[in-house]
Amino acid sequence: MRDQTGTFDRRSYLKLAGAGVAVTGLAGCLEDAADDDDDGSESGGDDETEIVAGTAPGFPPFEMNEGGDLVGFDIDHLEAVVAETDYELGGWNEYNFETLIQSLESGNIDVIAAAMTINDERKERIAFTDPYYSADQSVLVQTGGDFQPSELEDLSGRQVGAQSGSTGEGIVEDEVDGAEYRSFDSYVLAVGELERGTLDAVVLDQPVAKTFEANRDVEIAFTFETGEEYGLGVRQDDGDLQSALNDGIAAVQESGEYEEITQEWFGE
Ligand code: ARG
Repeated sequence: MRDQTGTFDRRSYLKLAGAGVAVTGLAGCLEDAADDDDDGSESGGDDETEIVAGTAPGFPPFEMNEGGDLVGFDIDHLEAVVAETDYELGGWNEYNFETLIQSLESGNIDVIAAAMTINDERKERIAFTDPYYSADQSVLVQTGGDFQPSELEDLSGRQVGAQSGSTGEGIVEDEVDGAEYRSFDSYVLAVGELERGTLDAVVLDQPVAKTFEANRDVEIAFTFETGEEYGLGVRQDDGDLQSALNDGIAAVQESGEYEEITQEWFGE
């Protein structure tokens, strides 16, 4: 059973389907939210506490589109976090990763939940919550292919792909001399090229690399430590939302719900 991402996990899907209310509720909101791109920070209309989330699917198991539904760790996690606050999650909008910060700044969304690494460059434009997940970067290659790099230097002179605006892209651009860098809107597209042999390597977050390795014809050549931490992104003047989400993140961790969501999507 394989869809566009090739990461369909039947067990997870069935479990999600069992939680039908939440899934249907969100799907219903998605359209409304997508149509509603005209306003400022009060994306929800009358209810001031309604917030709209933005993400960039194609990053399994954090966010992906399965049969038209947006699912994944970040989806479940943000829903759980917001449920601990006085805010209400009105729906999800989907973007290319590269345009998420802009969409937050312009008020089309109120929170980014997209496995986004907290870093200084981004902090110049947006604020982050406390970290909720840690990751390093991996280099993916074709399974059993001729090219088996063991360090970043080995990528010199090779066609290397990453997602536009990602920290993986930053690594290829800043730390690999002479790579022929190719940017992709989605890692799903980059992995497709890797399988077809039209790309030599892809640099991306290790948990996502592992998911592709398990579901596609690609394997992790090596992983290198970056110690990245993911945070939820909010506007810099949205301090109330930021602290509410921080409390929510802590509550979800303490209640054991975080562990459950991790089990669900990583089987760890
Ligand atoms: N963690 C990396 C970054 O912040 C990659 C995130 C990509 N996320 C996504 N939903 N496509 O740049």
